[in-house]
Amino acid sequence: MRNDDTMILEVDNIVAGYTDLDILHGISIKIESGEIVSIIGPNGSGKSTLMKTIFGLLRIRNGRIVFKGDDITGIMPERIVRKGMGYVPQEKEFFSSLTALENLEMGAFISDCDISESLERVYRIFPVLVEKGHIRAGALSGGEQRMVGFGRALMLSPDLLLLDEPSAGLAPKMRDMVFEKIIEINRAGTSILIVEQNAKRSLAISDRGYVLEMGRNRFEGAGCELLENEDVLRLYLGG
Ligand SMILES: Nc1ncnc2c1ncn2[C@@H]1O[C@H](COP(=O)(O)OP(=O)(O)OP(=O)(O)O)[C@@H](O)[C@H]1O
Ligand SMILES: [Mg+2]
Repeated sequence: MRNDDTMILEVDNIVAGYTDLDILHGISIKIESGEIVSIIGPNGSGKSTLMKTIFGLLRIRNGRIVFKGDDITGIMPERIVRKGMGYVPQEKEFFSSLTALENLEMGAFISDCDISESLERVYRIFPVLVEKGHIRAGALSGGEQRMVGFGRALMLSPDLLLLDEPSAGLAPKMRDMVFEKIIEINRAGTSILIVEQNAKRSLAISDRGYVLEMGRNRFEGAGCELLENEDVLRLYLGG
């Protein structure tokens, strides 16, 4: 199966949806090891649906997904996590009634190993969380909650991290923090697939990007190429 060692994820022509209706009509994307790749597109174009499908939360009706050389089509999320994929969903990504530390521990629940090293690693990326550990996640600020969501997904050192709208709803300073942390996490060796409303900013830190429209591939190219593409600018990046 493994024919290209540099490819971490290959999504090949996938069809999926929630009801009988298909939402993804044959989407294809790929991520090379070490890349940051952005998915952009209008509201309802299927960006979150694509993320959920990659992570095994939606059944695939056609096509296939290969992760690190293994076919993961139809595999449950728990097994996908074990294989080294992390996911921070667009919806609330943590348990409000649990403390920040308990949420981080939940991120490693499938691990039999001592998690103190994982915690250390997450604390090195998000030092603020050290002193917030005992606080209920629901009582943290928006930026801190986002750090808990990221941290939880990082507990098992994923090779690939899926981030759905990581900067949404944050104050400008916290948005800056999120983009800086994404770069830092990527430099430490994690490939990243990111869906962002803040598309210009996301493409600017991406190696490559894909534009989706109505559940189909519309454009693809290097991040900087898409930022300069007149059609992409006019149609999807607000001119
Ligand atoms: N749980 C669900 N059940 C049924 N249909 C859904 C569900 N979630 C999303 N959809 C539909 O799937 C389509 C794609 O939605 P999706 O959330 O993937 O879009 P998106 O590109 O992430 O949009 P946004 O930018 O608003 O986050 C939409 O028509 C939406 O109404
Ligand atoms: Mg979405």
